[in-house]
Amino acid sequence: MVKRWRTLVLGAAGCVLAVAAVMVASQAGAGRHPLSGREYARPMGVAGAPWLERAEREVEEQPARALAIMKVMPGATVADIGAGSGYFTERLSQLVGPTGKVFATDIQQGMLDLLQQRLVRQGIGNVTLILGAPADPRLAAASIDLALMVDVYHELSAPQTVLAHIRAALKPGGRLVLLEYKGEDPSIPIMPLHKMTVAQAKLEVESEGFVLTTAESSLPRQHVLIFTKP
Ligand SMILES: C[S@@+](CC[C@H](N)C(=O)[O-])C[C@H]1O[C@@H](n2cnc3c(N)ncnc32)[C@H](O)[C@@H]1O
Repeated sequence: MVKRWRTLVLGAAGCVLAVAAVMVASQAGAGRHPLSGREYARPMGVAGAPWLERAEREVEEQPARALAIMKVMPGATVADIGAGSGYFTERLSQLVGPTGKVFATDIQQGMLDLLQQRLVRQGIGNVTLILGAPADPRLAAASIDLALMVDVYHELSAPQTVLAHIRAALKPGGRLVLLEYKGEDPSIPIMPLHKMTVAQAKLEVESEGFVLTTAESSLPRQHVLIFTKP
């Protein structure tokens, strides 16, 4: 009997330690930007994919207008970094057309699986999927005209290293575009950690060798921030 209780107590203690270990492991991804002090958000899991596909996104984010602001050219090579289930990848694929290319990267294989299903469903042939690492989108050097991150930059756990890789992957004069929910506007119904101000983005991205050339805030909820690699 005593032995049974000892086994139960040790088992329970083991569970507590295991839960604590998981909590510590998940805390390990968090951090703060050394220059702005901004706290990094945790990446949205695959369970959040239906939210990325919600019909209201058309009204709330106006993707066609967002893409018109960044002037994606036919024949261009673009990277959709943190592509998720491919809401923007599909639109980019249409804009660059059959002579262009889209590299869609994400750190979660589950997101890339959903994106692959979308490509098959829509018969899309100009998109290449890349499983990236948290600090490296794994894009070839000097290969990209435009890199896009939609609702992604605030989730990066190593933004400075990722920006260095993006800078290397862009051709001279190439552009990096961030779409981020407006951190200056408390009425936008998104958790503060998932928003950014223009000032935060400018400080963090310009410090890594980019120049902010357009800050467009006419979308209902997001900034469109266009940075150029000089
Ligand atoms: C909020 S979702 C946005 C997905 C997509 N851009 C969209 O607008 O539908 C953020 C995505 O960024 C991905 N992500 C987070 N950190 C990343 C990183 N370091 N490199 C590439 N993708 C990342 C997540 O896995 C997730 O799929």
